[in-house]
Amino acid sequence: MAYESEHLLIEIADGIAVVRINRPDKLNALNGTLISELDQAFRGLAEDPTVRALVLTGAGEKAFVAGADIGELAKMDPLGGVRTSRQGQDAFRFLEQMPKPVIAAVNGFALGGGLELALACHIRLASENAKFGLPEVKLGIIPGYGGTVRLPRLVGKGRALEMILTGDMIDAQEAHRIGLVNRVVPQAELLDAARELASKIMANGPVAVALALEAVENGLTATVEEAQRFESNLFGLLASTSDMREGMGAFLEKRKANFTGK
Ligand code: COA
Repeated sequence: MAYESEHLLIEIADGIAVVRINRPDKLNALNGTLISELDQAFRGLAEDPTVRALVLTGAGEKAFVAGADIGELAKMDPLGGVRTSRQGQDAFRFLEQMPKPVIAAVNGFALGGGLELALACHIRLASENAKFGLPEVKLGIIPGYGGTVRLPRLVGKGRALEMILTGDMIDAQEAHRIGLVNRVVPQAELLDAARELASKIMANGPVAVALALEAVENGLTATVEEAQRFESNLFGLLASTSDMREGMGAFLEKRKANFTGK
């Protein structure tokens, strides 16, 4: 499948699609075109059988994404604001619900919509120079791409509100301390670390990985009862897969499993 667009560079190798947001002169700020391109790319990569995991990163050494494009936001009217917010929310929600693992390799500023994009990824790794913040209130707006929803779920209400209400940035170590990122690595090692993590996940049963993602996603919004029932149903469903027989057979025969995704 071909992925050509104005502001995205997508390279697929060994089952991993590295999606690079490529607008470095504007610190990879997300304009409307870029949001549409991301949406299209996510939908294509979700369907692409050659892709088993995604890594998202920013072009250049300074920014992952420094937010939504303020030049565009400055012109919005109320209905345009709702549309802009919904367009980003829909694209990011699609990413979050993707049945393939998505890793954010945060290589610099992740501000506003950039942090919201990273929050929609399943796992976040950061380079030592990364900085995180939701500075929207400094502009007289609030986060509009799911930041008020996902950040409190990830780091807790108090920490999220401190970031949202002050608009202050935190550095990579602080982001690690509060659980916003899983790991901090030197910038030169960031992409390799993300690829290595993706490969480790890809060595497991693909159907199990997809259903684990779905169970966790569902469990964060359903009641405990509903979430557990859903988990049981997916657990049972996996008993229909040849991957389950292969995984358990391989353990019992003391060999490496060879999963087929069936
Ligand atoms: N929207 C549009 N353009 C942006 C942008 C954004 N969110 N963030 C950075 N840029 C542009 C700058 O306007 C500048 O463009 P120019 O060279 O044409 O003037 C270019 O990217 C480089 O940014 P600059 O501000 O010169 O870099 P810096 O190192 O001095 O500062 C930041 C870096 C991230 C602190 C600063 O760019 C910033 O505060 N950006 C806005 C962050 C924000 O509020 N995001 C939330 C938006 S809802």
